[in-house]
Amino acid sequence: MRESARTIVLVRTTSQILLTWLFFGIAGIADVHASSIAGSPHDLSVNGEGICVYCHTPMSASLDGSTPLWNRKTSSKTLSMYSSSTLDMTIEATPGDVSLMCLSCHDGSMAYDSLINNPGVANNGVMTGTSAIGADGLANDHPISIEYDPSKDSHFAPATNGRVGGLPLFVKNGQTGPATQVECSTCHDVHDPSNGNFLRMSNAGSSLCLTCHVL
Ligand code: HEC
Ligand code: HEC
Ligand code: HEC
Ligand code: HEC
Repeated sequence: MRESARTIVLVRTTSQILLTWLFFGIAGIADVHASSIAGSPHDLSVNGEGICVYCHTPMSASLDGSTPLWNRKTSSKTLSMYSSSTLDMTIEATPGDVSLMCLSCHDGSMAYDSLINNPGVANNGVMTGTSAIGADGLANDHPISIEYDPSKDSHFAPATNGRVGGLPLFVKNGQTGPATQVECSTCHDVHDPSNGNFLRMSNAGSSLCLTCHVL
């Protein structure tokens, strides 16, 4: 008994080290500008004790999402999805994992410090107002967890290697690839407030919209 318990602990620790290495090594922590998150709406630290911890942890992370070392509990709120008679592409019945990460704050149902591994930070605020875009469901928001497939509608730019222009697509829940899904993080970069609204690119002249929509 003790021997096998120890083996499990060892295996777990090894995979955590590997994950930590993948996270800080390959992904390149230097690419994520802590200084730009600091002071942005995504800096939830109360006394400067930690910014990343509200979303990531190096230890005991949730492994069921597609976000690296995710540290947030999953909201149990049921969210209506966008629907319309003119949609040509396939929308999932529930949000993809990477969008659920956003919605764990942005559906207004859970406190910011509902963390899997909390090293002692406290910020029990819950989102209200216009930022809580999922509070009334997602039917009135741009479709997410929809497969980007220009073969079904010629008014869309081509996708190459999981990207449309500079915008990344994500892997559908339960699959390992290819990246086909439009999710919150397709248009937003949680780490970078420089374009306003954490947008991946400026939307001046609707340039973000026109990256995908060809009118
Ligand atoms: C508000 C939530 C949030 C905070 C705070 C946050 N991240 Fe992230 N991070 C995400 C999400 C969501 C993803 C995956 C999807 C994406 O890339 O947008 C991600 C992805 C990453 C990645 C993978 C590479 C990449 O850019 O996609 C790295 C590395 C990373 N974060 C590091 C950090 C570091 C370091 C901090 C603290 C300075 C931090 N993050 C703070 C939500 C957050
Ligand atoms: C840990 C909680 C948390 C997570 C996770 C989170 N956010 Fe936020 N986000 C916030 C808070 C808090 C604000 C500020 C709310 C306010 O001012 O009312 C905010 C604000 C924003 C804003 C508005 C920024 C502005 O300049 O006004 C956008 C856009 C946004 N988040 C997108 C995202 C996306 C996309 C994700 C997932 C990739 C995400 N957030 C994940 C907490 C979170
Ligand atoms: C197709 C691109 C796109 C997708 C997908 C998308 N957003 Fe946005 N989002 C925008 C743009 C553009 C804005 C800027 C405000 C506007 O034009 O309405 C914005 C604004 C916001 C704001 C600020 C709202 C306010 O009134 O303060 C939040 C919060 C936000 N998005 C979160 C999310 C979350 C969470 C998801 C996924 C459930 C998501 N977004 C998916 C493009 C997108
Ligand atoms: C990453 C690519 C992408 C970006 C960026 C994008 N969209 Fe979309 N949009 C889509 C896809 C995919 C659909 C679903 C199309 C379908 O099924 O026919 C869609 C659907 C829509 C629809 C609903 C159409 C319907 O038939 O119900 C509207 C409206 C829309 N987008 C407006 C916008 C606006 C406004 C912006 C900029 C703020 C934007 N989109 C940015 C990919 C994108």
